[in-house]
Amino acid sequence: MSRIAYVNGRYLPHAEAGVSIDDRGFQFADSVYEVCEVIGGKLVDERRHMARLQRSLDRLHMARPVSVKALAVIMRETIRRNRVTDGIVYVQVSRGQMRRDFTFPPEGTQPTLVVTARSNDLAKIEARAAKGIVVVTVPDERWRHVDIKSVSLLPNVLAKQTARDKGAHEAWLVDAKGYVTEGASSTAWIVTRDGILVTRPLAGDILPGVTRSVLLDLIAEQGLRFEERAFTVEEAHAAREAFVTSASQSVMPVTEIDGRPVGNGAPGLTAGALRRDYHSRAEFS
Ligand code: PDD
Repeated sequence: MSRIAYVNGRYLPHAEAGVSIDDRGFQFADSVYEVCEVIGGKLVDERRHMARLQRSLDRLHMARPVSVKALAVIMRETIRRNRVTDGIVYVQVSRGQMRRDFTFPPEGTQPTLVVTARSNDLAKIEARAAKGIVVVTVPDERWRHVDIKSVSLLPNVLAKQTARDKGAHEAWLVDAKGYVTEGASSTAWIVTRDGILVTRPLAGDILPGVTRSVLLDLIAEQGLRFEERAFTVEEAHAAREAFVTSASQSVMPVTEIDGRPVGNGAPGLTAGALRRDYHSRAEFS
């Protein structure tokens, strides 16, 4: 029997079921989910699972794709179509589909809803329960690996949306000690009052930006004064210049941080010169 999945209003064979490559879940892990147990064809603890789903949606300011009642019907229909007596039903909601952009899609964008169900091998689970299971301990690293260019970008999405809500283009992320790590989707730089370029070193707590590495070569070539060290929010507020770097905007001057002008509030000369020269150092292929 072929498995059936519910996707945005349609029940489809798994092989034909899919979401857009522009789906926020695929692009940014911008989605939430629930797994409910099914016993004797009945949902187990549905009320509590649906309450948690609502909480997850609310926490991420995500719209409901369908009403609570409609979802209850869809879950049961997915269970029925897959002839699941004992197993699980899986529900995933993403923020929907939009051209890739960190900030939220426009109001009214239809969230994506996927529901699947599958049977459990009860005999196998009972046999396992009779024997017990083995556990190993591992460090809790959820999600510390920001040095990997992974699509686990939900925190970046939320930071960027906060920036957008405050009329800003980018959010600079600040660590527990008050030092700027990087932008939500860019590398952060300042130029001190003494004219020294500063950006955070690569120590696992930022993404190793390609633009950053090319710019470091350019800076060395031009003999500019440079320090690879963490800088605080206060230092950024007091900086002569600030800018961000990324593949999508090369060198982009920052003129305001937290409502305060950077330097005289106009794009800085150093940032401007580096922006002009960047592509002379970049590799073209
Ligand atoms: N973002 N830090 C983060 C968190 C980023 O997402 C990016 C790039 C950078 C800069 O890296 P690079 O110089 O290699 O582009 C730093 C891309 C542009 C994006 O997600 O759209």
